[in-house]
Amino acid sequence: MRGRIPDGFIDDLLTRIDIVEVVERRVPLKKAGREWTACCPFHDERTPSFYVSPQKQFYHCFGCGAHGSAIKFLMDYERLEFPDAVEELAQSAGLSVPHEGVDNRPREDRSGLYQLLESATTWYQKQFHASAQAQAYARERGLAEQTLEAFRIGWAPAEWDGLIRHVGHTPEKLKVLEQAGMVSTGERGKRYDRFRGRLMFPIQDRRGRVIAFGGRAMGEDTPKYLNSPETPLFHKGRELFALWQCKQVSGALHRLMVVEGYMDAIALHQAGLPIAVATLGTATTPEHTERLFRTAADVVFCFDGDRAGRDAAWKALDATLPRLRDGRQAFFLFLPEGEDPDTIVQSEGKAGFEARLKGATPLSEYFFDTLSHDIDLTSLDGRARLAERARPLVARLPDGAFRDLMAQELKNRTGTDTRFENAPAPAASRPLQQRAVRRTLVRSAIALLLARPELAGELEPPYAFAELDKPGVTLLLELIEVARARPGITTGALLEHFTERPEAEALQKLAVAEPVGDDAMQRSEFLGALDQMQRQVDLQRIAALQVRQVDGTLDAEGKAQLRELLSAKSRGTPAT
Ligand code: UTP
Ligand code: MN
Repeated sequence: MRGRIPDGFIDDLLTRIDIVEVVERRVPLKKAGREWTACCPFHDERTPSFYVSPQKQFYHCFGCGAHGSAIKFLMDYERLEFPDAVEELAQSAGLSVPHEGVDNRPREDRSGLYQLLESATTWYQKQFHASAQAQAYARERGLAEQTLEAFRIGWAPAEWDGLIRHVGHTPEKLKVLEQAGMVSTGERGKRYDRFRGRLMFPIQDRRGRVIAFGGRAMGEDTPKYLNSPETPLFHKGRELFALWQCKQVSGALHRLMVVEGYMDAIALHQAGLPIAVATLGTATTPEHTERLFRTAADVVFCFDGDRAGRDAAWKALDATLPRLRDGRQAFFLFLPEGEDPDTIVQSEGKAGFEARLKGATPLSEYFFDTLSHDIDLTSLDGRARLAERARPLVARLPDGAFRDLMAQELKNRTGTDTRFENAPAPAASRPLQQRAVRRTLVRSAIALLLARPELAGELEPPYAFAELDKPGVTLLLELIEVARARPGITTGALLEHFTERPEAEALQKLAVAEPVGDDAMQRSEFLGALDQMQRQVDLQRIAALQVRQVDGTLDAEGKAQLRELLSAKSRGTPAT
C-alpha cells in the first residue's frame, strides 16, 4: 500500500510549479490583463471563458464552472487520479513524492520494472509479427490490425527461455524478471519463461504503463488464461483491463461497461464501443468501483446470464453500494446463456449491443428483484422478510437523494417505514451550502482570506472572534491555521487542503470572486470583519450574562464582566 501523501509536500509542490506553465503545456493560453485565457478544454465554446490566475494559482471557467489548482487541472484534463496527478507534477518539478504511514522507508525505485515490462511488450509484439500461428489465431478471433496495435497484443513463443534470452541471464536481470512476475522457478532452481506459446495481452495502468500480462493459450491448453502474479506493480483487485484505452478516446466519458474477459473488452472497443473494461479474473472490488465512478458517472455491469454471472453481479452490487453518491448510477446487463459480449457484438454488431445496453436494468430494480425472488410479497411475513434483508444494504448507501429513493421504494414494497438517519452536515458547511444567503461577515472574511492568504500572518492567537457561535467560524479558523503555518501559500494551494471536504465546492466558488478594492482596502475589510465578529461575541456573552442576571444566578465576577462588556459596547469597541 502506498501511504498518504503529506499535506506539506502538496504545499511545497504547488509553490514550486506554476499553474500557467502546467496548463500552457496542454492548452495554449493568451494573456488577458493579470490572467491568462483560452477556450475552455472542459466544454465546447467559441469565445474564451477559461481563465488561469498566476496570482491565485487557480483556474476557472465562467462557462462551465470548472475550477481548481494545478493538481485538479491535471486530474480533469488527463483523467488522472489524485496521487498520479501529484506524481506527474512532482516529476516535472524534479521532486519525488513522499508517502506517510505504513512504510516509511524511501519508496523503492520501480523504474527498472517498468522498463523491463515495456521491453517485454515490444518484444512480444515483434514475435507476433514473426509467428504465422499467432497471426492465424488473431485472425480467427476477428482481431483487426488497428486493435492489435491499440492493445499492443503480442505473442510469447513456445520456448522455455525466449524472454530470458532477450532480456539477459545476468543475476540482476533475472531478479528484475522475477520481481516483474515474468519467470517461474523449476525444481532445481532453474528459471524459465512464465508465458510460453500464448497470445499476450499487456495490462496497462492508469498512466498507460504496462504492469502485467494476461496470456491466452492456443486451443485447449490449460489454463486458458494465465495472468501475471501479484507484483509490486500489479494488484489485480485494483486494475481494470482496457481502462487506459477508454481514457484515450477524446471527449467526456459518461459511461463505462464492466465485462469479464479480455476478449470481451477488446471486441467491444473494436466494434466502436470504447467504453468497455474487464476485471482480471476476479470479482469486482470496491477499489474497482471507486475507480470506475471517478472516471464516469454511469457504470454498467455486464455478465453472463448463468449462475456464475448472477453471483458475480451480486458481488459487483455489493462493491457498488457504498459508492453510489448522488449523480452516480449503476446498471446491470445480463446476456443469454452461452453468450458473452464478444460473441454478441460479433453477431449483433454495435447497434445490437447498444440496444441491449439501453435495456440494462437499473441497480434499484435488480436489487429488489433479487432480494425478493424467493419471497411471497403478498404475505405479511414475506414483506417483513424483504424489509429485513434490504435494510442493512440500503443503510450502506451514502446519504443523499438516492438513498431516500431506495428507502421510499422499500416502503412501497413492504409497507414498513425505515428511517435512515442522515449524518449531520458539519456545522461549518451548512451556511455555505445555502446558495441564496447574503454575504455574511464570516463569508466575507473567508472570501478575503482565500484571495489574500497572507492576511492570516497579521493575526495572533488566541482569536477573540473564535467563540462566535455562527456557522463557518470553525472553517475560517482552519483556513487561518493552514495559511499561518505556510507563509506564501497561494489560493490554489490553500484550497487543495480542503478538497476532500464537503465545504470544498463552496470554498472554490468563494475563491473565484475577486474582492473589490486594492490591497490596503482588502486588508482593512478583512480585519474589520474579524473585529465585528468579535463584537458579536461580546453581544452573545452579554445576552448570556443577562439571562443569569434575571435568574438571580449571576455572581460577583459575572456582574463585573457584564459591566465591562456593556461599557465597551457603549464605547463601540470590542472588549478584550
Ligand atoms: P472466459 O473464459 O469467459 O474468457 O473468462 P473469454 O474472454 O470469453 O475468453 P475466450 O473468448 O475464450 O478467449 C473470462 C476471464 O476470466 C479470466 C480471464 O481474465 C478471462 O478473460 N480467466 C479465465 C482466467 O484468468 N483464467 C482462466 O483460465 C480463464
Ligand atoms: Mn469469450
